[in-house]
Amino acid sequence: MHTYDELTQRIATACLDYAIERLRMDPVPLDGPLPFAKLADQAGRTITREGREPEDVVREFADVLAPACISTDSPRFVSFIPAAPTKASLLFDLVVGASSVCGTSWLEGAGAIYAENEALQVLADAAGLPPGAGGCFVSGGSIGNLSALAVARDSAAAARGSRPDRWRVAVGEETHSSVASALRLLDVDALVIASDEHDRLTGTALRAALAGDADPSSVCAVVATSGTTNAGIVDDLAGVADVAREAKIWFHVDGAYGAAALLAPSARARFSGIEHADSFVVDPHKWLFAPFDSCALLYREPARAKAVHAQDASYLDAIHEGDEWNPADYAFHLTRRTRGLPFWFSLAVHGTDAYSAAVETTLASARHAARQIEAADHAELVREPELSIVLFRRPGWSEADYASWSERLLRDQIALCLATRWKGEMVARVVFLHPECPDTFIDELLATMI
Ligand SMILES: Cc1ncc(COP(=O)(O)O)c(C=O)c1O
Repeated sequence: MHTYDELTQRIATACLDYAIERLRMDPVPLDGPLPFAKLADQAGRTITREGREPEDVVREFADVLAPACISTDSPRFVSFIPAAPTKASLLFDLVVGASSVCGTSWLEGAGAIYAENEALQVLADAAGLPPGAGGCFVSGGSIGNLSALAVARDSAAAARGSRPDRWRVAVGEETHSSVASALRLLDVDALVIASDEHDRLTGTALRAALAGDADPSSVCAVVATSGTTNAGIVDDLAGVADVAREAKIWFHVDGAYGAAALLAPSARARFSGIEHADSFVVDPHKWLFAPFDSCALLYREPARAKAVHAQDASYLDAIHEGDEWNPADYAFHLTRRTRGLPFWFSLAVHGTDAYSAAVETTLASARHAARQIEAADHAELVREPELSIVLFRRPGWSEADYASWSERLLRDQIALCLATRWKGEMVARVVFLHPECPDTFIDELLATMI
């Protein structure tokens, strides 16, 4: 099982051949889920006492199990937040898997952590964080937000020397659901700040809410979103940063989806103020062309995170003897895959200019879609896209019409395109994250709505 024997060679051939077959698919089929009973019928019991021929198991995966998974990397997957990993990042993910590097501590993974940290530096520089900023890669925006908000709360307690009965964190109306979950886990309440007429959290509204609050000292942080998930709206980061500084509260920016557009010159100005963040997250597995799962979590002053997250156990003393960088110290995790490496490798191979160009391409797709929607007689643009998410309605359609439209699109393998709710109304939502989405895609989609 552990030596590179003849069986291993057969496994390698079967797995690598399939990986290359999958990477060569052009276009990759959209595919889709099957009901459990159908899958059970087709796949049956896959694990036996005596084991099976590797070629048979890989073929079963390729022919039965994989097609029952939607290809999130298809340009036709335009719901939730899709994925568009580069071939370089996917191939290097195989290398990461084959290498068994542990990314917990410098002692174990120095070389890999050096490379991950360079990739983090690209993002810290794009945001304009000061020298010394740093963090680690975690599995996703949810754990990134949770880890950052734990630091925000505990830093406030340490700085103020006292704790209120209940800590609170100011959030916007469109803040991602993972922040609400994180606050629940941290036993912290949300102070929800009303959005402005452009559906953004603003510094003005935050200042007014704090001024009118009976207990403003219980607010330890504010979360601004740089690219809401439903509509791609960027909050007033500069205004919120000012108020956070005045009120001495932690400024966290959730850029899990949208902060990728920091790399796009045409969108950069929208992020003005992010350079003041005490912490921020961006997911390379969303709009930075990396495979699942990877979220870059960055702190302005990483020592604060270390004070909260470094785990204390005698068997871990060795990793804390020097002052080397241990990614485990900066989030709620210990053992970790070096999940930043596929992103690093792809950045190293393609260069950052290619990333800027790819994000620009997707922004252009969203703008093009908005114009096509405006030109169509049977569709209406809900709001001008700020980033790469486009909301539009089909006047006259009920919720059931949207649902059956989505079902039809998937059945006919045209798209995975689900509706969402915007201000109480059911509307269509398309997320452009794939640089190879053809210009004709939106026309094809609109034609299915007539
Ligand atoms: C703005 C925002 N924050 C946080 C998250 C959660 O990220 P993840 O799914 O990687 O945990 C998402 C996911 O879509 C998001 O869009």
